[in-house]
Amino acid sequence: MSRFEPVIIGFLCNWCSYTGADLAGVARLQYPPNLRPIRVMCSGMVSPDLVMEAFLKGADGVMVMGCHPGECHYLEGNTKAAARARVITLVLDDIGINPDRFRLNWISSAEASVFAELVTEFTIRIQKLGPQQTRPQNSDTEPKHEMQNPKSGEKQRDLKNNVT
Ligand code: FES
Repeated sequence: MSRFEPVIIGFLCNWCSYTGADLAGVARLQYPPNLRPIRVMCSGMVSPDLVMEAFLKGADGVMVMGCHPGECHYLEGNTKAAARARVITLVLDDIGINPDRFRLNWISSAEASVFAELVTEFTIRIQKLGPQQTRPQNSDTEPKHEMQNPKSGEKQRDLKNNVT
């Protein structure tokens, strides 16, 4: 049986963790290829909505990485991120997604090995948890009703569901 390869979305702050990830690549550090990095200008701009969207679109895990406390280029962005992380954890638990699938970490641009370790550790954690089960199936989330032109009464094509 093949090993479960999770999809992990990583929101990486441009000024620290993204550079740390880059350095890990340049230094040829080994870490699992499961992380899909998304560069953001600050961890504070990662709203709970973005994290939820990542999960609802099929992510098995989500990491947010920002500058160490006191080093945020926008002063309090990472403080905001920490507060949001607590909310995200509560919401995930509420909607039936294991909060262990989410993680917030501080990584400086020089901490390439820490980046590689965290990604490795988180990937193993998500592999143990298995695939994220609550992702909606398109067929179940979209309405499946026929649409009618209110003027002519003609049936219209429902483009989303590709039915007439
Ligand atoms: S600029 Fe990196 S966390 Fe704000």
